Amino acid sequence: MAHLDELIQKVSNVKDKLSLQNLKSELLGKNSQINQEFKKLGSLSEEERKAKASDLNNQKQRINEAIENKFKELEKLEINQKLQKEKVDVTLPARERPNGKIHPVSQVIDEISSIFSEVGFSVAEGPDVETEYNNFTALNTPENHPARDMHDTFYLDENKKILLRTHTSPVQIRTMLSGKPPFKIIVPGRTYRCDSDQTHAPMFHQLEGLHIDKGINMGHLKGCLDYFIKEFFEVKKIQMRFRPSHFPFTEPSAEVDIGYRMENGRIIVGEGNKWLEILGCGMVHPNVLKNAKVDTKKFQGYAFGMGIDRLAMLKYGINDLRSFFEADYRWLNYFGFDPLDVPTNYRGLSR
Ligand code: PHE
Repeated sequence: MAHLDELIQKVSNVKDKLSLQNLKSELLGKNSQINQEFKKLGSLSEEERKAKASDLNNQKQRINEAIENKFKELEKLEINQKLQKEKVDVTLPARERPNGKIHPVSQVIDEISSIFSEVGFSVAEGPDVETEYNNFTALNTPENHPARDMHDTFYLDENKKILLRTHTSPVQIRTMLSGKPPFKIIVPGRTYRCDSDQTHAPMFHQLEGLHIDKGINMGHLKGCLDYFIKEFFEVKKIQMRFRPSHFPFTEPSAEVDIGYRMENGRIIVGEGNKWLEILGCGMVHPNVLKNAKVDTKKFQGYAFGMGIDRLAMLKYGINDLRSFFEADYRWLNYFGFDPLDVPTNYRGLSR
């Protein structure tokens, strides 16, 4: 058997943990020399056996110790090397982590939804790609109505049967056809028209409202809008004007203006001698209810539609509608909202 000192030298020459592992089984494992020696003990006399056994145990223990020490040493080395490699330079400037912002349109949709949900409206949705039937025909919009003109509507097929919805009103039809009255919904969503200037974008957002029940009248419509405008603009008083208008899907129809004044180049909503048109509304036309399979002898109600982008521009003082959709990060950083900011409306603080 090799001399013990040689074996111990072998252990101390090892450079990594894997080799140490291998060496350990070589020196102490089943086929190790020392193990063979142990096996031979049986053939010795008792005296000799005792002496030899104690000697072998001694050797074994020393090898074991040497291996353990080597293991600790290698471990330490490894950690030190790691620390050396992964050294953190604390003097480096921190890496900037850009914080996302909520787009004003998303913010306003959240605010609007929470205001209407407090008075019992739920949120409904429909697809951007609509049928000509839901977008026009079912909404009592005759074949020759100017809204159907190629200049206003993006048609998606030659037969003009499929289009990008020009308003959120088709969701009135979808909602009524897929359920039973009463209905009390708002519909925020994207809408499309061939139009683009400072206050019009080809893609914009609307909010539809529909309330159908027994005995609903214009008074309910007025009360609902009065409540909404006050909550949304966080004002106690609002001047509101219903102007007679025309929509094929409502009768009577009205457009609603709210009073405002200019102060240091900013619009102050609520009072003043100027009027700003913000929405269209009316009592849902009986033809629409019939198309949507609602019993007009029992049920009636109102609908309204407003421009969400317009509301966001007014509330947050944004001048150009087109900037909403340019995805300019600097713009979003300036006009966007922090994700954790809870709008005051959630708590109804304005009341
Ligand atoms: N859909 C109409 C528009 O886009 C708005 C509206 C909705 C008017 C509901 C009356 C009732 O102009």
